[in-house]
Amino acid sequence: MKTSKIKGLVIRKANIFEISKIVSIQKTHFIYSKFWLWLLRSFLTGHVFVALKNNNLAGFIIWNNKTLCSIVVSEAFRGQGIGKELVNETMPCTDIQIVECSLHNKKFYEKSGFKVEKLKMVKR
Ligand SMILES: CC(C)(COP(=O)(O)OP(=O)(O)OC[C@H]1O[C@@H](n2cnc3c(N)ncnc32)[C@H](O)[C@@H]1OP(=O)(O)O)[C@@H](O)C(=O)NCCC(=O)NCCS
Repeated sequence: MKTSKIKGLVIRKANIFEISKIVSIQKTHFIYSKFWLWLLRSFLTGHVFVALKNNNLAGFIIWNNKTLCSIVVSEAFRGQGIGKELVNETMPCTDIQIVECSLHNKKFYEKSGFKVEKLKMVKR
């Protein structure tokens, strides 16, 4: 468990009883019917971390080996540095990558220490 520089913020491994809270945060951002299953598997094979702000679950991050699979911060807690802290405090090593990054999040990832390596183009 890590007490962050951000007041009232704690970042630690998620526990299995937090699954439903993680799912409810995920649902506000994207629809993926098998997220439950995937999350359960991530508990076993990967690393699931949560950010708690004043004991409220503010966001989560999921790693699988060297890959950042998913990060979501609840809307009410955005813009406070929690996402950046989640990335930097939980990364398993320095040689990491992000599988899917929308242009919308490019700035966030850059601010969190990433750079663009490849650009993929698809037929219009
Ligand atoms: C992307 C996301 C995790 C960022 O979380 P956050 O806690 O609001 O981000 P932070 O406050 O830590 O931001 C860190 C830096 O990135 C910048 N930033 C964050 N989101 C940004 C955006 N959409 N556009 C431009 N800059 C952004 C912040 O201004 C901040 O800059 P600073 O270090 O100079 O102050 C959050 O917006 C989110 O959950 N979005 C929906 C889910 C999502 O898209 N996840 C990623 C793909 S799975």
